[in-house]
Formats: sequence, C-alpha cells, structure tokens
Amino acid sequence: MNISVDRNSKTSIQEQIKLEIAQRIRSGLLEEDYALPSVRQLSHCSNISLVTAHRVYKSLEKDGLIKTIRGKGTFVKQHTTLHNDTPQGINTISLDPFNWHLSIPDYLPRASFWSQSSVRLPPQFLDMATASIHHSLLPLTLLQASMQQALRQYPQSLGCYSPYQGDPDFLKVICDYFANQGLSIRPHQLIVTNGTQQGMDLFARTFLGPKDVIAMETPCFSGAIDVFRFNHTIIQPIPIDAEGIRIDILEELAAQTKIKAIYTVPTYQNPTGTIMSLNRRKDLLEFAENNNILILEDDPHRELSLFNNNLAIKPPPTLKSLDKSGRVIYLKGFSKFLFPGLRLGIIVADGTIYNRLLAAKSISDLGSPLWLQKSLIPLFSNPQLVTFIKNLNQKLTSRSSFVMKMLTDNLDPQIKFKKIYGGMHLWLTLPPEISADNLLTIAHSRSIHFLPGSIFYPGEPESNHLRICWTNLSDDNLPKALDILCRILNNAISNP
Ligand SMILES: Cc1ncc(COP(=O)(O)O)c(C=O)c1O
Repeated sequence: MNISVDRNSKTSIQEQIKLEIAQRIRSGLLEEDYALPSVRQLSHCSNISLVTAHRVYKSLEKDGLIKTIRGKGTFVKQHTTLHNDTPQGINTISLDPFNWHLSIPDYLPRASFWSQSSVRLPPQFLDMATASIHHSLLPLTLLQASMQQALRQYPQSLGCYSPYQGDPDFLKVICDYFANQGLSIRPHQLIVTNGTQQGMDLFARTFLGPKDVIAMETPCFSGAIDVFRFNHTIIQPIPIDAEGIRIDILEELAAQTKIKAIYTVPTYQNPTGTIMSLNRRKDLLEFAENNNILILEDDPHRELSLFNNNLAIKPPPTLKSLDKSGRVIYLKGFSKFLFPGLRLGIIVADGTIYNRLLAAKSISDLGSPLWLQKSLIPLFSNPQLVTFIKNLNQKLTSRSSFVMKMLTDNLDPQIKFKKIYGGMHLWLTLPPEISADNLLTIAHSRSIHFLPGSIFYPGEPESNHLRICWTNLSDDNLPKALDILCRILNNAISNP
C-alpha cells in the first residue's frame, strides 16, 4: 500500500491517510480479513509519527472499518461490497497460500467501479446502479444492419490496424454527427478511444503528475475520481449548486494553489443530473482562461434529454463549442444512448494538446479496433439515428414521469430528490444521520442494487445520499425495484 499525502492540504495528514485506507476498504481493494501493516510499518512507510499512525487506526476502528485482534494484528472488517465471494475467517489467514502477496506494495487507488460493478452482481438482482439503458430501448436493428453492411463493404478491415487517431471515414461521419449537435469539428481534432474512460485516462497520464492539482466538481462521476487517484494527482473537490460548478470556490482555490485542470460533466451531471447554466459555462471558460487551466468536459448524456410540457429540452451549448482557444478537451461517449458493449468514445482536442494525447493513445493501445469503426459508419450516416434518439427521449420522458410519481407518492417526505431534465440518474438525499452505505447491505439482502453516494466524493464522503439509475431495468422490473427501495428507505427513517 503506497499512501500519498499532500502536506500542503488543509486536511490533516492523519485524516488523509485514514481516508485513503477507508476508501480502499470501501471499494473492496482491501478485502475482509486483509492484514493491515502494523502501526510501526504504517508510520515508517507513510513518514508519520507512531502516535499519528496509531490515531489513524483508532479512527478507522471507530468507523467500523477495521478490527484489532490482540497479539495478531489489525484486520479489515466485513463491509458492504459485492465482491466478497470467498468469505474468509481470521483463522484461515495463515492457511492462505497467497499470503505472501501482501508483502508486495501496489500503486492502486480505490476502485469504486470494480467493487460496485453489476458485472459481479448475482443474476437475480434488480440493478439500479449501472448507468445504462435497458437493451430493449436500444437501436439493435439499426446496429445489425450497419454491421452486416460493413462486413460486406470493408472485409479487409479485419486484417488491418487502425490509424492511431481513428479511421478517416469514421472520423468524417462523427464530424457530421457533431455538426448536427451544433459542434463544428474537423477530423484532425478527433481521437477514437475505447470508451470515455480511456479518454480520461489518456488525459490524466499525459497532463497530470503526482504534484498537479485537478479541481473536480463534487459530487462527481466515481470512475473519474478513480482515474485521477490512480495517477496520484491532487484532487480538490469543488461543490456544485443549481447552476453547476461553483466559480467562487474555484477562485478561492486558485488564490492558494496552481490548478492545472478542471473536470466537469456540465450536461445532466452524474450523479445529480444538474445542468450547468449558459452563464456559468461562460464564467468557467473565463476563469480557466485567466488562470491558464485546462478543462476536461465529459459529455455522455446530451442525447438523453427529456421533454418538458411536450417540448424537447435543449441543454446549453457544450463548453467546447464556446471555447475560443483550444482550452477544452471534450470527451464524447457513446455508451449511454447507443451500446456500452461497443466501448466507443471520442476525444476532441486542438493543437499540441491534441498531438500529445494522440502520442499517449499510440503508447496505450496502438489504436482502437478498425473493424468496430468501419462497422459503425453506416449507423452514424443513417438519418434514422436521429429519429431513434427522438423516440428514445419520448420513452424516457414517460419513464421518468412514472419514477417521479412513484417516489413522490411512496417515499417519506424527509427523503429529498430534484426533478430531472435529462440523463439517467436520480440523486436521493436522506436525513444526515442515515448512511446509504449501511442500507446497501439491506438492499442486497432484498436483491436490489444501487450506488451509495459516498463513492461520488473525491474527498471526505457524505454518506446520506444514493444514486439510482432508472433506465436500466425492464418495464416490469422497474416498479418492483422501486417498491423495495421505498420500503427500505422509509424503514430506515422510521427505525433509524
Ligand atoms: C460522466 C461519465 N463519464 C464517463 C463514463 C464512462 O463512459 P464510457 O462507457 O464511455 O467509458 C460514465 C459512465 O457511467 C459517466 O457517467
């Protein structure tokens, strides 16, 4: 375990180390009964006093995350992740033939995606954690036709590598797609990636070192937190309000430290669904310009706009389309309104930022699959794609109305949530004394899954929130899952 601390941070060193260990436990990287370093070893490897190391363990013990067994050591306690497939007891530790593995330090940070992933979910579970659209709502027939046409038209593509940035014909249809969305882009600004997640990873590895500061809107997408932690970048959480990331707090931060980059999901933010207002977008760009900061704009949900009073909601323009100086690196994902199984994403960048990201892409994987790109050219050129998105928006609108009504009618009024205008998530806030981490154990015993709010915080987590994805289940299963959820949450309020 290598624990990085920021000695300039306002958070005490003791708290930072405690948080790091707590996050590894909560995300399942440190499994139940994992033997933690002794107080002396922790003090030595983290360069802290014995007293501080001792206090770190005391505080983790108080939070119920670890246990000390006299004469044996300090161990991880049972916690609520899905992946504890092979329960062990303290007494079995000495029989574990891989016990020596623990002496090999790693550089992994927390890994919320891994621990909460539905891939590990038992099949009977009703999954309200995974952010995807139920497969029956996806354009499968369009995709099948597209792939068959491509197999006839480009069979040679199976025998070739792709150019690192992507196939030129594919990049051209993607530019046309962006143009329909009001984003004027040329092919030489694009890099094809394996999902947006790879775009974030390439950005982090290219531009962020262990001493650099990234400001992240908070709460924010847990997968992005994992990426930046992996890089040992210093993460500064910046709260959001109804209009998006707070510029006043960014300004305070900039007065104290050099911010290198800002990460934001301005449209239908994950997990809260917030839409950054046009004014806030302009202010953010001006702030970044004045302080020479890069902006990483992550935009996977724009296509998932709902209708409001029968009118399609049109979110404000992307930061990238307002960007005059190539400061915004724009990430477009196709997992949300098309198919997550395709693992397809795009980076849009300019100038030497683009060249450096392209170099990183070539080092990382020698380019994305050529066949995949060719197979999607007919789909992206097909005018029916636009019709599909419009129909999808209509279906999601009636689904979201159903969800809102069911929750409003059945949930205790002390549980708060806001009306959403797009995206696929709903952020529920419980009274402060109730922890969604604890409720998750009950949820699993009733075969439903949601994401506890704590994983969306890069710093000190707030535990009284949870995120549900209301688009992932079938029409039949959604009411069942919501019904169970309402009962669990109401019960937590009446029997705290
Ligand atoms: C805001 C945000 N960015 C990126 C991703 C990852 O997307 P992809 O499947 O394109 O890697 C997600 C997935 O949940 C997300 O919510």
